[in-house]
Amino acid sequence: MSQRANRVFVTREIPEAGLSRVLAACDAVVWREPLPPPREVLLERVVGCHGLLSLLTDRVDAELMDAAGAQLRVISNFAVGVNNIDLAEASRRGIRVGNTPDVLTDATADLAFALLIAAARRIVSGQDSIRAGHWRTWEPLGHIGVDLIGKVLGIVGMGRIGAALARRCHGGWGMRVLYTDPNRNHSAEKELAAERVDLDTLLRSADFVSVHTDLSDSTCGMFDRAAFRRMQRHAVFVNTARGPIHDPAALHEALATGQIFAAGLDVTDPEPIALDDPLLGLPNCVIVPHIASATVASRNGMAEIAADNLLAGLRGLPLRCCVNPG
Ligand code: DGY
Repeated sequence: MSQRANRVFVTREIPEAGLSRVLAACDAVVWREPLPPPREVLLERVVGCHGLLSLLTDRVDAELMDAAGAQLRVISNFAVGVNNIDLAEASRRGIRVGNTPDVLTDATADLAFALLIAAARRIVSGQDSIRAGHWRTWEPLGHIGVDLIGKVLGIVGMGRIGAALARRCHGGWGMRVLYTDPNRNHSAEKELAAERVDLDTLLRSADFVSVHTDLSDSTCGMFDRAAFRRMQRHAVFVNTARGPIHDPAALHEALATGQIFAAGLDVTDPEPIALDDPLLGLPNCVIVPHIASATVASRNGMAEIAADNLLAGLRGLPLRCCVNPG
């Protein structure tokens, strides 16, 4: 079968760097609306498809695979995280699943650091106070934040992105690095003198806690009331991984009662966050709309890998980045 005979559904416009190659090679339909396809539309558009190029906003489960049909060979996710996909179900059906690692590592670590420093130095609340007309003079006691130099950074999930943030904080601010991870990261231990500790030790010792772990049954709700209570009162919590890893009510309580100093979030649960969510009313919570990979190079790189994964899967070849290589 020629590649052009392969039917593909692309669930949103992605950068041309990848999209043009998919359109040239396949019989592809692209959902070009600004919002994700509604569930019933997704279920209808995948019928008869050999490949699916999905986003983290699409739930790809057994129902969707059933709707597509037995010819579905590859699901190429335009993200490094694949928590939106039922991997066990895809593997059981022999469907290869691709993701887009590496190209977003630096951009994500940069944003984690931006959130860390913005929360620590009260940058957003400072800007808000100007806009509200409250800047009347230089204040010796106003807008006091926490220092970064020589502090302790706790990384939860020492993979590529966690290590990239640790490198910035250790190299630039001389921070001591603690981490938790099911696996040892020998290069981070060697390069950054990072110490692997249990979560309790990390929470009690770190001045900054940054989350870089996958969302799974074991990490969902990991940052609950008990976790925030173990953190120091001057601690800053940063999450650029997935929203459900922290419990929003517990985080709100920790921030509102001064249990921790501040938080910086790129991810929320749900996304988008509701406009009446109490976290939005807190001056010590900086929130941005899941933009960690939103740089030109990262998004182009993600599009190229997503196209490579899709086209390889359609040809029955190994994917460039496969999360269930079989
Ligand atoms: C991912 O890739 O998983 C990010 O959350 C979005 O780029």
